[in-house]
Amino acid sequence: MRTVLVTGAGGGIGAAIAARFAAAGDRLVLADLRAAELSTVAGKLATDVVELPGDLADAEFAEALVERTGPVDVLVNAAGIYPATPLLEMTAAAWDRVQDVNVRAALLTTVAFGRSHVAAGTTGAVVNISSGAATRARPGAAHYATSKAALEMVTKACAVELGPHGIRVNAVSPGFVTVDSEANPVTEAYAAAVSVNPLGRRGEPREVADAVFWLAGPEAAWITGAVLRVDGGSTAGAAGLPLHWTGETAVQRGKEAHV
Ligand SMILES: NC(=O)c1ccc[n+]([C@@H]2O[C@H](COP(=O)([O-])OP(=O)(O)OC[C@H]3O[C@@H](n4cnc5c(N)ncnc54)[C@H](O)[C@@H]3O)[C@@H](O)[C@H]2O)c1
Repeated sequence: MRTVLVTGAGGGIGAAIAARFAAAGDRLVLADLRAAELSTVAGKLATDVVELPGDLADAEFAEALVERTGPVDVLVNAAGIYPATPLLEMTAAAWDRVQDVNVRAALLTTVAFGRSHVAAGTTGAVVNISSGAATRARPGAAHYATSKAALEMVTKACAVELGPHGIRVNAVSPGFVTVDSEANPVTEAYAAAVSVNPLGRRGEPREVADAVFWLAGPEAAWITGAVLRVDGGSTAGAAGLPLHWTGETAVQRGKEAHV
């Protein structure tokens, strides 16, 4: 039985990740800003659960999280915020809040996780939750897209330095996943536009959770520093576009000439 620390566990994707590890019999430690949501999620899990409500934008809380938890085998950084802030309305406070929650907290929890494993001589795995926004900017999300691009580099930088200690650090990058989030609401118009992908549907939180579970487990033992895109193919290319040319092609003309 592993001990798994999941941040953002009061939210849609974090709760699904917690449920996936709980289904495998793992012990859970759940952290989130919203204590009530955290308790609701914890109450549905048929396993040992410790709840740690608090603000991960607070560096002291983020740094102390692993220490308060005791030995942790798997750390999943799923807490995140994606406010809509048009570029011309961006403020230092709005920018900093997103970076503090989405990037700095994940870095600080990983550093604490690494320190505890190196001191104990044990191995472990970290999985960070990135986003397709890491590679594609979108209106109102300069802070968010930048934070996820930074989180992917944090993932690689931590993988490089912690790999020699037997600690793997990877990321899962979801496409649009329906979570009905009160913390991070999105409009239906946005959801429809961002859900165009080759597989033709939105993702489910459990599909992200399955990828996290696999990356954290023994079958991914030689994988570190990777970003696994779980997005219905969103980042593979531009699905939903019309053909760029509908007239007769040179090949078709050539074929007719040989008939
Ligand atoms: N839903 C999607 O389509 C999608 C797509 C790509 C990436 N993501 C990422 O997945 C992760 C989970 O998002 P979600 O969609 O489940 O949203 P969500 O709003 O349901 O969950 C996010 C959770 O993080 C918590 N949180 C926010 N700020 C916090 C703080 N300062 N301290 C502690 N906890 C805090 C919230 O309370 C919430 O429970 C995020 O990192 C998000 O960026 C989501």
